[in-house]
Amino acid sequence: MTKETAYAVEVDRLTKRYGDLPAVDDISFTVRKGEVFAFLGPNGAGKTTTVEIIETIRPPTSGKVNLLGMDVTKKKHDIVHRIGVLPQGFSSFDRITVRETLLYYARLFSVKTDIDGLIELVNLRDKTKEQYRNLSGGLKQRLGIAIALVNNPEVVFLDEPTTGLDPRARHEVWEVLLGLKKKGKTVFLTTHYMEEAELLADTVAIISKGKVIAMGTPGELIERNANYLSLTLKPIDEKVFEIVRKMGFGPVLDNHKNIKVRVEHTYDVQKILNAIKDAGALYLGLDVRKPNLEEVFLKLTGEALREDPDEMETE
Ligand SMILES: Nc1ncnc2c1ncn2[C@@H]1O[C@H](COP(=O)(O)OP(=O)(O)OP(=O)(O)O)[C@@H](O)[C@H]1O
Ligand SMILES: [Mg+2]
Repeated sequence: MTKETAYAVEVDRLTKRYGDLPAVDDISFTVRKGEVFAFLGPNGAGKTTTVEIIETIRPPTSGKVNLLGMDVTKKKHDIVHRIGVLPQGFSSFDRITVRETLLYYARLFSVKTDIDGLIELVNLRDKTKEQYRNLSGGLKQRLGIAIALVNNPEVVFLDEPTTGLDPRARHEVWEVLLGLKKKGKTVFLTTHYMEEAELLADTVAIISKGKVIAMGTPGELIERNANYLSLTLKPIDEKVFEIVRKMGFGPVLDNHKNIKVRVEHTYDVQKILNAIKDAGALYLGLDVRKPNLEEVFLKLTGEALREDPDEMETE
């Protein structure tokens, strides 16, 4: 029996060991149906291992994983029809065209697929007769996403779909992912790119050394872990730096002679600007910015490394 659940994925105390290495170390999290969930973590963090356990491909060492209410170790045949997978470092048949490739994968699943609809969804209309080997990196990844969708799955797993792509190709893949969300698919995205997670994900889980070290909406993660503002001043007067330093804010100069100051409140920004004005000094421009997910990620993964005594010795 499959139980009805609001969750596409439920991971409970999952561990995967390779010899002495806990590649995934006692992690728990859930993914809601219809959300874009981003798994963010450095190389070797355990992202692919976790994802491939959820996809029924690797067996867990311990813990429990349910996909759409089904135990991934017991319901492999039922699960495979309801998920789509783009593996990390995906590749396909070199001399087979886009359309032939999709027809082939649809046949593998013995399903009737709206191939044209799929081609439309991943925006490969002009490339249907192109062989795989002649596609650019971004087009290859979009074909990979289309392959993951041939069985009209409810949950789609994409392991680093934009790694190695140039910015435009990356944006084009993002468009496709937003299209999937619009269609109500649950998307489980693995990525190294913060801006990708920040832009696309409803929920982000940061994984480091086999542990989930933070989870929440991008906004929540930023609010919780980086509650400060970054003020940048483009000064005309050299004395601006001294004024800010004397106020005790610890300014630094960047490569372009801009002054960077980290403050806690907008009130501090006002105080700094008033002090500059009172001193009769001038500045050309200013920018006040909230930290982004990248800063949170660097802070949290940095802390996780420092907490690890083995890592300290090798530093
Ligand atoms: N089949 C395997 N046998 C032995 N060790 C493995 C195996 N698969 C993964 N590992 C190890 O487990 C750890 C986690 O690997 P995993 O591929 O899950 O990380 P990842 O977060 O996906 O990294 P990347 O960002 O580089 O893809 C790594 O130390 C890796 O070397
Ligand atoms: Mg990986």
